[in-house]
Amino acid sequence: MSCALNLACTWFDAAFEQPAHALALKLNVPAIGYESLDNSDYACLLIVDEAGLQLQVTGKKRPGPVRVDFVSGAVAHRRQFGGGTGQLIAKACGLNKGVRPFIVDATAGLGRDAFVLATLGCSVILLERSALVYELLNDGVEQARGVPEICEIVERMTCKGEDSIDWLNSLNPEDKPDVVYLDPMFPHTEKSAQVKKEMLLFRSLVGQDNDAAALLDAALRAALYRVVVKRPRKAPCVEGVPPTYHLEGKSCRYDIYALKKFD
Ligand SMILES: C[S@@+](CC[C@H](N)C(=O)[O-])C[C@H]1O[C@@H](n2cnc3c(N)ncnc32)[C@H](O)[C@@H]1O
Repeated sequence: MSCALNLACTWFDAAFEQPAHALALKLNVPAIGYESLDNSDYACLLIVDEAGLQLQVTGKKRPGPVRVDFVSGAVAHRRQFGGGTGQLIAKACGLNKGVRPFIVDATAGLGRDAFVLATLGCSVILLERSALVYELLNDGVEQARGVPEICEIVERMTCKGEDSIDWLNSLNPEDKPDVVYLDPMFPHTEKSAQVKKEMLLFRSLVGQDNDAAALLDAALRAALYRVVVKRPRKAPCVEGVPPTYHLEGKSCRYDIYALKKFD
C-alpha cells in the first residue's frame, strides 16, 4: 500500500524518530525531522507522538488534527450514553436479545461505527483500503488496548488493510460473516462546522467510493444473514438490487438487504 497525498511523517520528540521512519517507509512518503506546522512544504503531516498518530493539515489557519480516539470525546460519550441496542445501527444489523452477529465492516474508515457494534458485543472485522486511513485506524485500536474500560471492546475488533471487494470475493465458505456492513463515501452537503472541521480532510484523503455497487455485490454474496448499507437520509440507494427495507434516522438511513432470518 502507498499514499498519493503530499504528505510526510514527522516527530517532535526524538523518541518517536524511529517509529516515524518505519511508518514513512510503509506509506512510501518522506520522513522529516522538525517541521513547522504553520509553514511546511507538505500539505499534510502525519505526526507520531506519545498519543499515537495524528494527521495534521499544515498552514496558519489549519483545522484540528484527525486521529482515531476511542477513549475520549464523541465516541466515548456515545459508548456511555448512546442508547445501547436501541440505536438504529444495532437494529439495522439485527442485534436482538441474545443475537450478536459476527460482522464485517467493509468500509471501516475511522472505525466509529465498528466501535459501536463492538461495544454492543459483536465481533467485527474492519477492512480499510486507504493505507493512510488504515494506519490511523489501527493506531486507534492499538492505543485503546491499554485502556481498562475499553480493552475488552477492542479485543472484538480486528483491522485489516485490504480492499474489501477482493477480500469478500475470496472468503472461504466457513468464514462467511453473518452481516456485512457498508458505509461508502458519498458527496455530502451538510454545512455544519463540525462536519467541516473533522471530515473535509478525511474526504479529501479517500475521495469518493465509485465502486460501491461492486462492493455491494460482493457483500451480498459473502453475508449469511444480511447486508446493511448506511446512506445519507435522502441519498439514492447503491446501484444494484433494491434493499428489502430501510430504517431512517435524523441524518442517515440504513438500507437492509435481508438474506435470511436470524435464528
Ligand atoms: C465513509 S467512510 C466510513 C466511515 C466509518 N463507517 C466510520 O464509522 O468511521 C468510508 C471508508 O470506506 C473505505 N472503503 C471504501 N471502499 C472500500 C473497499 N472496497 N475496501 C476497503 N475500504 C473501502 C474508504 O477508504 C473510507 O475510508
